[in-house]
Amino acid sequence: MADAKSKIIDGKAVAAELRETVAQEVTRLTEHHNLVPGLAVVLVGEDPASQVYVRNKVRQTEAAGMKSFHFDRPPSISQDELLELIDTLNADEQVHGILVQLPLPAHIDEGAVIEAISPDKDVDGFHAINSGRLLNGNARALVACTPRGCIDLAKKALGSDLSGKHAVVVGRSNIVGKPVSILLLQENCTVTIAHSRTQDLAAVCRTADILVAAVGRPEFIQGDWIKPGCTVIDVGINRIERDGQSRLVGDVDFDAAIQHAAAVTPVPGGVGPMTIACLLRNTVIAACNINGLQSQIK
Ligand code: GUN
Repeated sequence: MADAKSKIIDGKAVAAELRETVAQEVTRLTEHHNLVPGLAVVLVGEDPASQVYVRNKVRQTEAAGMKSFHFDRPPSISQDELLELIDTLNADEQVHGILVQLPLPAHIDEGAVIEAISPDKDVDGFHAINSGRLLNGNARALVACTPRGCIDLAKKALGSDLSGKHAVVVGRSNIVGKPVSILLLQENCTVTIAHSRTQDLAAVCRTADILVAAVGRPEFIQGDWIKPGCTVIDVGINRIERDGQSRLVGDVDFDAAIQHAAAVTPVPGGVGPMTIACLLRNTVIAACNINGLQSQIK
């Protein structure tokens, strides 16, 4: 039997590889097409976790050789003022990707903000036009970063052909469960979407060749729910107290899962690092689409 360490899918390493590929494509676009992809990140308010996420996004955008535009706005900003900023960014030719960090203050309608972003610059892939394009298999879809990162990690473990695998997705959110299910279907998996009302969830999970956990409940998926040889992709990031210490755990009981699975993503260090790398890739793809160029990264 493979040792436990060899079963861990190293999201940090896969993300670093992707960032390197993105940086090479940025160099090609800059040198051959005089095109420097640009990402604008908008942060409203002073939430410390959001500040950390935004700082990492800005740093990694610059490290990939792209232009980074960063807008900090006070929590008191009105919805109209925020929509005006988005209009300005939609019209700015140096900006190819726009990301408004969520959550937004309660007086702002998140849906209205997301829908105001030009779909061709919606590098989060949250706009209804991009969800529709994903559903229709339209190549111009900008795909949400976390679901796309899950597919890259599944392929890291299983190889590029996922055809015929039974994928069970636990969770049906708009930002992970639904889009990852569609992506798995595009990869020719047979897909089951399970959720809080699913009967005998354990039995459904036991049929999975690929299990994607996106429920937001710490260590909810038990070791004996996992079929021997299954590939487990854990999207959860939950902070818990254990033995008097604060720690991050996923939606899967990792120590138990690794006894059964062929491969498991750890938390932290699995899906998390992929999200920003996928955001950078989306920015390059958006810059190419907007300028009528073929991106050499997919
Ligand atoms: N807040 C936490 N994760 C995300 C993300 O992926 N995109 C945006 N816009 N906000 C977030």
